[in-house]
Amino acid sequence: MADTTIDKILEVKDLDVSYQKLRILFQVSLDVDAGEVAVVVGRNGAGKTTLFRTIAGFLNQEAGTIHFNGNDIGRLRAFEVAQLGLKYIQQDKHVFSDLTVRENLELGSYATKDYDWDRVLEYFPQLKNIIDRKGGHLSGGERQMLLIAMSLLGNPGLVLMDEPTEGLAPHVITDLSHAFKKISEKTTLVIIEQNLPLTAEVADRVYAMKEGKIVAEFKDQQAIENLEFEAYL
Ligand SMILES: Nc1ncnc2c1ncn2[C@@H]1O[C@H](COP(=O)(O)OP(=O)(O)O)[C@@H](O)[C@H]1O
Ligand SMILES: [Mg+2]
Repeated sequence: MADTTIDKILEVKDLDVSYQKLRILFQVSLDVDAGEVAVVVGRNGAGKTTLFRTIAGFLNQEAGTIHFNGNDIGRLRAFEVAQLGLKYIQQDKHVFSDLTVRENLELGSYATKDYDWDRVLEYFPQLKNIIDRKGGHLSGGERQMLLIAMSLLGNPGLVLMDEPTEGLAPHVITDLSHAFKKISEKTTLVIIEQNLPLTAEVADRVYAMKEGKIVAEFKDQQAIENLEFEAYL
């Protein structure tokens, strides 16, 4: 690939996506630099999850391109995208409820051949204390932490997180925001968030989505801290 893409870990250009005949995304473009925390904000129904599902290979675009680390991933399937090191944590926070934390991690390790649990649990020390607890007995925050830890097995270059703090208590959200900053030192994060203070806290870049379009982009730290993106929601 051309050298111009070298700092851009993710490059999405002019995506059009539909469900059956109904157009949901219109000419969506976004860039994320390696090492950033990028946040996508927007109201329910704006198309945020549809965008992530398309990047992750679960949906096909009708038009537009997606490059990850300079590779054209626009027509790859989800497992192929994951193998290249782009992971997607879905909005539903699903973990296997009959399996323990340890067994859920084991599944991630079989898939990636990465057994370095110490590395991925370093962000969430509280999971070490409940390693034998079943997924069905975890709190929402613990489930989210387990999903993030699992996503980091295999050392992905980028993780897409779909509303990771939805429904969580404020102190858990604070823990997660610290974790996001630490994780981003090694793995680029793109996060869908409805929590605007958290967005201001963690984001290096913010994209605002409305009615299937990107309506604004913010990179200026002061503008982000002043929640200027709020006007576009
Ligand atoms: N599987 C689907 N089939 C048809 N329409 C869908 C489907 N999933 C989502 N939509 C529609 O696509 C639009 C965007 O949804 P979504 O991407 O989930 O938005 P967001 O994540 O921003 O809340 C909504 O109007 C929603 O009703
Ligand atoms: Mg959504």
